[in-house]
Amino acid sequence: MRKSVDSSVELHPVLAERWSPRSYDSSAVIPDQDVLAFLEAARWAPSANNGQPWRFIIARRGDEHFQNISKTLSGFNQVWAPSASLFVVVSTLTTTPDGKPRATAMYDAGLSSALLTVEAHHRGYAVHQIAGFDREIIKNEFGLDAALAPIVILAIGKQAPASSLVDPVLKEREEAPRERLPLSELVVAGNIATS
Ligand SMILES: Cc1cc2nc3c(=O)[nH]c(=O)nc-3n(C[C@H](O)[C@H](O)[C@H](O)COP(=O)(O)O)c2cc1C
Repeated sequence: MRKSVDSSVELHPVLAERWSPRSYDSSAVIPDQDVLAFLEAARWAPSANNGQPWRFIIARRGDEHFQNISKTLSGFNQVWAPSASLFVVVSTLTTTPDGKPRATAMYDAGLSSALLTVEAHHRGYAVHQIAGFDREIIKNEFGLDAALAPIVILAIGKQAPASSLVDPVLKEREEAPRERLPLSELVVAGNIATS
């Protein structure tokens, strides 16, 4: 299923056609080379002082990590996300080696996730970001350092038709049009011709 964006100018197709589906092909397997490409795209993201605070946990559907991560998902995320082929848990180092707070840690990790997402869509996969999960369980399960904060789980896989979703609420959301605030509301100062 494709969704078009209502953009005042033409965007790169990968950006225009990216969206976050919840219907995944539960038999799809992502080749290692593609997983590597996702991680390389994330690795080469920019970051403040080239600090690269992002850290990743990789789990493939069927392995123990994937099962353990699935159990941490909250609410309806438990219903749809386990059909994805791959989970990438994105964490960020909140402090520098000398214990000072990293003001841009979340921003840096978000940028790396964004580039990973673009590379994955370019390669024909869908990515859905998930903030609804139990961070404490993830920290304990994977023995993460106290300075490492889990932020998001990326559910990655091959998109399936909306009709594969059994839950009527999920199906309705899948088919809903994408919406955004108008640019005129986002640009709070400065002049831009938006039409
Ligand atoms: C940080 C973040 C957390 C999100 N958490 C969830 C989530 O827990 N469950 C979910 O179904 N979608 C989640 N989403 C997906 C958003 O709902 C989705 O990106 C937004 O509605 C825009 O839709 P689009 O990506 O299709 O354009 C999250 C997205 C982001 C960026």
